[in-house]
Amino acid sequence: MFRFGVDYYPEHWPEERWALDARLMQEAGFNTVRLAEFAWSRLEPAPGRFDFDWLDRAIAILQERGLQVVLGTPTASPPPWVMAMHPDAHRVLPSGLRVAYGNRRNYCPTHAGYRERGRIITQAMAEHYAHHPAVIGWQIDNEFGDRCYCEHCRAAFHVWLQHKYQSLDALNEAWGTVFWSQVYTEWSQIPVPLETAAPFGDGSHNPGLALDYYRFLSDQYVAFQREQVAILRRRCPGHFITHNMMGAGYDRLNYFDLAADLDFVSWDNYRRMQWTFRPEVIPSEAALSHAAMRGLKHKNFWVMEQQAGAGGWQIVSVAPRPGELRLWAYQSIAHGADAIIFFRWRTARFGTEQYWHGLLEHDGRAGRRYAEIKQMGAEIARVGAEIAGSEVRANIAILLDYDSRFAFQIQANNPAFQYTNHLHDIYQAFHRRNLAVDVVSGRDDFSRYKLLIAPALYVLTEETARRIEAFVQNGGVLMTTPRTGVKDATNTVVNMPPPGLLAGVCGVEVEEYDSLPEGVSQPLAFVQSDFHNGPPPHARIWCDVLRPSSAQPVALYTQDYYAGKPAITENRYGAGRAVYVGTFGDGQLYAALVDWLLDLANLRSEISTPPGVEWSTRWRGDRPIHFVLNHTRERQPVNLKGRMRNLLNGEALESGVLELPPYQAAILTAEPVDDPMEDKVSGEKLAGAYGR
Ligand code: GLA
Ligand code: ZN
Repeated sequence: MFRFGVDYYPEHWPEERWALDARLMQEAGFNTVRLAEFAWSRLEPAPGRFDFDWLDRAIAILQERGLQVVLGTPTASPPPWVMAMHPDAHRVLPSGLRVAYGNRRNYCPTHAGYRERGRIITQAMAEHYAHHPAVIGWQIDNEFGDRCYCEHCRAAFHVWLQHKYQSLDALNEAWGTVFWSQVYTEWSQIPVPLETAAPFGDGSHNPGLALDYYRFLSDQYVAFQREQVAILRRRCPGHFITHNMMGAGYDRLNYFDLAADLDFVSWDNYRRMQWTFRPEVIPSEAALSHAAMRGLKHKNFWVMEQQAGAGGWQIVSVAPRPGELRLWAYQSIAHGADAIIFFRWRTARFGTEQYWHGLLEHDGRAGRRYAEIKQMGAEIARVGAEIAGSEVRANIAILLDYDSRFAFQIQANNPAFQYTNHLHDIYQAFHRRNLAVDVVSGRDDFSRYKLLIAPALYVLTEETARRIEAFVQNGGVLMTTPRTGVKDATNTVVNMPPPGLLAGVCGVEVEEYDSLPEGVSQPLAFVQSDFHNGPPPHARIWCDVLRPSSAQPVALYTQDYYAGKPAITENRYGAGRAVYVGTFGDGQLYAALVDWLLDLANLRSEISTPPGVEWSTRWRGDRPIHFVLNHTRERQPVNLKGRMRNLLNGEALESGVLELPPYQAAILTAEPVDDPMEDKVSGEKLAGAYGR
C-alpha cells in the first residue's frame, strides 16, 4: 500500500477544529498521519503522570476518516521538568558551554537519567497503543545526531575505549600519543575533543582520538535508539519502527549503523530551506539523498517530512512555485519512496517554527498548496498500489564511508574540500545521464554492480580494500579519487604511498601532492585528443602527482612544476579496470569522464532528456515504471522510445514526444503492442496487462 499523508500536531489547535482537519485530510487523499513526535509535555505533564486522553480523541477522529497513525516517541523535545530534574543532561558544545533550555534536541545521548526518562515515556506509549487498531508504527525521536562533549560522554567514552583497545598500551600505540607527549597512563586522563589552545576545533586534537570520539558518539545515538526499539519490539510486535534521517548531507552519525535496527529508513526532504534564496533547486541533490537513504538498507524508504510550503524560522524562504511541491514529492517516489508524509499540516501560529509553512495557512485556510497536494492525492489513489513496492535498480554504486567523512571533519585537507559536495559532483554526472546509482557502504556486496565509485576513501580498512580488489579482479570497474587509502582505521597515515592498499589495483602511486589555494585551477590535457569535446575540465583543490606502475595515463596536468605528469590513470587488473582520478575537479570533470566510464563498464545511458528534466525508473518485476520530472520553469519536450501512456492523466503518447509543462511530472508505462510478433520480440507482453 502506498502511504500518503501528513505530520499533524493536534495539540497545537483547538479540539473543535480536529474534525474539520480530519475531513480535509481525507479529501486530500491521505491515509496516514504522524502524531505526537514533540508532545512529551502533553503526554507526561509530570513525572509518571500520563495523559493519553487527548491523543486518543485525536486518533479517534482521524480514524473515522480512514487515517492510520504513526506515533513519534517524543524524546527530541523534553519538557522543562525533565531538564530541571537533570540539568546536566543538557548537551555540551565543543566550546565546553552547556546549551540552555529552550530549543529541542538539547539533550546528551549518554545521560543515564535522560535515557531512563526516555524509556519510561516510550514504555507508557507502547503499552497504551500496542493494540490500537489505527496505530501502525513508530518513529523514534527526531533527526538524531548532535554531538555532545559533556562529562557523562567522557566517562562513557572511556568505557567504550577500554572495550575497544583492552589496554592503554594498545590505545597509545594506535593513536600515536607519543606525539606531543600525550601518552596516557590512566583511562581517566583521556579527554574528549573540547576546544584546546589551538583554534582548529576538534582538529587540534590527536586525529585518532577525535575519530574514535565521533564513532563513539554515533554509537551512543544508536544505543539510545536501540533502547526504545527494544521496548517497542517487545510491546508492539505488530508495528514497524523507523527514524527520520536527514539525507546524504548529514554527517554526524553513521546512518548505516543507525538504520540496522529499523524496519525501514525514513528521511526528511526539504528542497528549499529557510536559508535558500535561489528559486531553482538542484534536482540531483535530492536524488543523491534519496539514493543514500535507499542504500542504508537497500530498501524502499519513507519520506516522513516532505516539504509542504516555504521553509522558515526567523526568515522565510522563497515560496515553492505552483507545481513544485507535487513535483518534489513525485521525485521522492521516483527514487524509491513508498510513503510521502508532508510536513506539516497547518502552519503553526506560535513557537519557533511559525514560518515553516504547512499545507494550510496560519488561519487554517486550505489554499493553493493544499489544492496541489489534493490533486496528487487523487492521482496516488489511482497509481499508488501500482508503484508501492516497485524498486529502483542500479548497476552503478557510490561508496559512502562515514569513517572517511568523520576524518575529513577533523582534517579537511583543503579548506575547499567538502566530502558531500565531492560525492554530489560525481553523482550529478550520472544523474544527468538518467542512470540509477546506489549508495553503498564498504561492507556491501559490490558484485551486483558493474561500476563502483569510491570517492575520497580516506580511511581504508584492509577488509574494504580486499573487497574492492576482488570486485575489480572479477571484472568490475572502479573509479577512485584523491586522498583514498591515506589513513588506516586508527586515523594514522599508512606507511606507503597513496592510494595505500589500493595502489596495486590502481597500478599507480601518488608521488607527491599539491593542495591548491582557493581560486587556483589548471586545465587537464587528455592523452587521446578525441577523448573529450569542448573546453577541457580543470583540476581544482588538490593535485596528486601520479607515478604509474602498470596504469596508463589518461589525462595530464598542463601547468606548474608537475606539468606533463599524469593526473588520471587507468589500470587493467584481473578482469576489470581501475581508474584513479588524482584531482577533485568540479562537476565538469566527471561530466567529461562519464561516457568513458560507462564504456569501460559496458553500460549505456538509454534515455536522454533536456537539461533539468529528470528520468528515473522503478521496476515491478520486468515491468518498468518511468517517472519523468520537469524541474524547469519552461515547457520541455521529451523524446520517448515506443508507445507510452501517462498513468497520471491516462493520456496515450502516440507521437513519441511527451510535452511536459513547467514543474510537471509524468509516470509512464509502455503501451500494449498490437502486433503479436512484435509483442514477442520486444518482450513487452506483460505491459499489455497494465496499459489502460
Ligand atoms: C526538521 C524536523 C521538523 C521540523 C522541520 C522544519 O526536519 O524534523 O520537526 O523542524 O525540520 O524545520
Ligand atoms: Zn554528553
